[in-house]
Amino acid sequence: MIGAQPRLFYPRFYCFAVFLACVIGGSFSFKVVTLESIQIFTTHEFIPGRPTVFFQCQGEKRTILPDVTQVNLLYTFKGEESWQPLTELPERKCRRCGLYERDFIKSPDVFDEWELCSSDFVDGKYIHFKENEFNATFSCPECRPLKDGPPSSVSESRAAGHRTSLVFIIIISVLVSMAVVAVSVIGYRWWLHRKRQQEQTRFLKLFAEVDDIEDELGLGTL
Ligand SMILES: *[C@@H]1O[C@H](CO)[C@@H](O)[C@H](O)[C@H]1NC(C)=O
Repeated sequence: MIGAQPRLFYPRFYCFAVFLACVIGGSFSFKVVTLESIQIFTTHEFIPGRPTVFFQCQGEKRTILPDVTQVNLLYTFKGEESWQPLTELPERKCRRCGLYERDFIKSPDVFDEWELCSSDFVDGKYIHFKENEFNATFSCPECRPLKDGPPSSVSESRAAGHRTSLVFIIIISVLVSMAVVAVSVIGYRWWLHRKRQQEQTRFLKLFAEVDDIEDELGLGTL
């Protein structure tokens, strides 16, 4: 009866582990960045022809923007084009990214290289403008500015975020303490059970010894 209890406990513990993994996974999630619009003001090739413009973050593969071939033309995107998204940003870490033009002879020409940060996005938008080079608008609905951002809705949503994380912490603490209590109760019961069994066997052994002695004594009197 007691032995069956730990097995019943396993599914509950499994659910708890999955829940914990989801919470941790959620708080370390990456934020998807897409290109909303771009306008290039120049090309870097001497030989006339269609330029091949690409976006690349350090350590990642290049994303060629196949449509961007004309200077001074504003290209707008829906965010779901085949080459989107451009990159993913971690919570509190910037990524060094840039806009380049493929060069067939030497290494790519640089429009600009900069630190793309989750905290630079205001209301999910970030405009990167470099004079005589390009003007691009990036979109990242999940990106949020850090402290001293615009007060109103952003700080409100951040306060709500703090509240939910506090609730999560409380829930996790309660679950962890429940798990600890359950494990100790089961452990204590198992230990009690073991002790009782040991006492029983010792008792039985004692009885057997007494029987043996009686037998011997009985034999002796005969
Ligand atoms: C850059 O592009 C955005 C979006 O098209 C526009 O609102 C902004 O005024 C542009 N900035 C410059 C300096 O051209």
